[in-house]
Amino acid sequence: MEPNDAQARASQLRAELERHNRLYYLDATPEISDADYDALMGELKAIEAEHPELLTPDSPTQRVGGAPLEGFLPVRHLVPMLSIEDVHELREEEIGGGDSDVGLVDWFERFERNLGRSDIALTVEPKIDGVAVSLLYRDGLLEYAATRGDGSTGDDITQNIKTIRRVPLRLPAGAPPVFEVRGEVFMPNEAFNRLNEERDAAGEPAFINPRNATAGTLKQLDSGIVATRPLDVIFHSFGLVEGAEFESVTEFHDLLPTLGLQAGQWFRAAGDLGQLRAAVAELGEARHRFPYATDGAVIKVDEIALHAELGATSKHPRWACAYKFRPEQKQTVLKAITIQVGRTGVLTPVAELEPVFVSGTTVARATLHNQDEISRKDVRVGDTVVVEKAGEIIPAVVKVIVGERPPDTPPYDLYGAVGGKCPSCGSAITRDEGFVAWRCPNFACPEKAVTRLKHFGGRRMLDLDGLGDAVAEKLVESGMVGAPLDLFGLEMPALADLLLDPAQLQSGEESKPRRFGEKKATALLASLDRARQMPLDKWLFALGIPNVGESAALECARLHERFSDVASSAILPKIVSASGLENQRREISPRNRSNPPADEADKARRQEAHDELKAQVTALREELAPLAVSPDIGPVAAGAIAAFFDSDAGRETVAAMADLGIDPRSGNYNPKPEAAGGAGAPLSGTWVITGTLSQPRDHFKSLIQNGGGKVAGSVSKNTDYLLAGEKAGSKLAKAESLGVAVVDEAAFGAMAAGAPPAT
Ligand code: IVH
Repeated sequence: MEPNDAQARASQLRAELERHNRLYYLDATPEISDADYDALMGELKAIEAEHPELLTPDSPTQRVGGAPLEGFLPVRHLVPMLSIEDVHELREEEIGGGDSDVGLVDWFERFERNLGRSDIALTVEPKIDGVAVSLLYRDGLLEYAATRGDGSTGDDITQNIKTIRRVPLRLPAGAPPVFEVRGEVFMPNEAFNRLNEERDAAGEPAFINPRNATAGTLKQLDSGIVATRPLDVIFHSFGLVEGAEFESVTEFHDLLPTLGLQAGQWFRAAGDLGQLRAAVAELGEARHRFPYATDGAVIKVDEIALHAELGATSKHPRWACAYKFRPEQKQTVLKAITIQVGRTGVLTPVAELEPVFVSGTTVARATLHNQDEISRKDVRVGDTVVVEKAGEIIPAVVKVIVGERPPDTPPYDLYGAVGGKCPSCGSAITRDEGFVAWRCPNFACPEKAVTRLKHFGGRRMLDLDGLGDAVAEKLVESGMVGAPLDLFGLEMPALADLLLDPAQLQSGEESKPRRFGEKKATALLASLDRARQMPLDKWLFALGIPNVGESAALECARLHERFSDVASSAILPKIVSASGLENQRREISPRNRSNPPADEADKARRQEAHDELKAQVTALREELAPLAVSPDIGPVAAGAIAAFFDSDAGRETVAAMADLGIDPRSGNYNPKPEAAGGAGAPLSGTWVITGTLSQPRDHFKSLIQNGGGKVAGSVSKNTDYLLAGEKAGSKLAKAESLGVAVVDEAAFGAMAAGAPPAT
């Protein structure tokens, strides 16, 4: 395509993609299918790959930014990010009335006194339990996004925030030219639960609550991982604004959606203390139905002119306060403790409860984690227990009301309860030394087969349609599927005829058994066909190898071109050996204080062995160095993958894949990132940007990252290039003194277009 045509088509595609994005995320009225959206995105990516000089920082392709960062750069907030003062909690019996909610009244009366007025309009909105972010839009363009940090300086998390499709990369015309807008990033409850189920199935530790999951995600240096996590954002306040003035919090709240920025949906005005109490109480109920976690009510003075008048302490403004809700707790009876067998064979005790309504949903089950947890809380069958939803999401047994315990209730003993056998297959259970969990050691345990199957088809794995709990169970139970790969042998009439359990009717009677049906069966078969083309990392993750999570799978796929290459990998054993030999070397070292040599002869012998090991480690490390293996695949994960391919199960898998003609190809194969140069990675190397350039720094940063380079904050001897604009100062001087190549904007453009670096 001619450059001019390409430019025109690229801007057309960008506008179209952002419009569909808005329709989907803001208006909830999508006009095109996901597949059509992906096709448009694919076309734009192709144009930008051919003409890197046409890339713009607000291009929707930039939502998943290039190479992982080495660290986050600091960002100074233009206006400090303060926190909000907490006011006293309402005790349960006082919600909806009562007159001893002192904290709130105090707060209210204090500013009425300060202002000498008693007719002050307030607003009430949910306090979202997420992670605070500040976004700067300059001339409508997202310049950066930063965490709160210490309130005055945060981390630059622009790459990560851009992956959130709800965040506009460009604001519509008419937006304030300088707009520092603030909000809360969060993970919706449903998405959080799904993520945790998948992590659990993958043998990865679950996140405690959505806020932790969000914070952990935003700390990722690789925006590719962030893009797989379903984050969302709600905006609620502002920092520096130039070119616009808001009279009230209400006006600001109403303006947000017109700029394409999501505001909270629940928002109330309160004219006096009575209305304020009523609104807080209403929110206390309503928040349980929100799709995200909230932990309080934020109360603000509506009139913005009063904010300056009220001022702030060093920590928080006097025009706002946060009213904290306490998690709701309920008592119920523990009817039984059942045992679940996980994908890796771990036996998990689950509390079966007399159903109770807690924080908006009916809770009938809660995990008891393991025997140690049960013993610590002394939970016994028949006990009256207190339950709450941890982080308002995951039901948890908080404690036992010992006084209500029926007489002669024995302590709970997991081993005894299952008679020492796996409740699913009857194998004798085992407990690894130093571990609290009991496991079923049988690889072919049917219960494991079901969880493995569900994992295999999970959204972050091979994304199979219609492979829910009930279907996975029936497929295994009917004998149609044993190992996940058997799925590829499923055929039409039989699959559609699969009988599922009858639906439970209201009255408790059962309806007729249901068929899986043609429609769902067709969808599942189609998704299996798609799975054949899924990239290597998804397959490696889907196979459910213990200790191999999503990031290890991704790094493994960077190092291997095809599935068959992983099976015969020369790299993985090196990673394992390097670490194993290094441990031996340390152990055997004559200078090991915890194991000193017996005498001089021993010392000499050990020195010799030590030097031999050291040479081997050095040689292995030198072989591995050009691959720049990330810590995502350490000796544990590398060893787990190698051991899998060396096991019967692994060999069977390789043979079965070959029979099926499936040899997944890596989507991110790049085993020599450092050595890669030339046309493929025109901007590889470490860059520092300084001075005034024709575009925001972020623009150049994206170009460099897309061109295979890294961007650092300061010039050092590791810097390869300094991109220097007008009025470059100390960084230029330092680069010159260190002999770092200095590139001006024109030369940079030529490099980005593929010309060799001027030396
Ligand atoms: S307004 C001066 N509104 O809670 C601060 N903040 O502990 C003005 N938060 O840092 C912020 N939901 O990140 C505001 N509806 C809401 C909020 C909210 C959550 C966070 C915010 C703030 C923290 C204060």
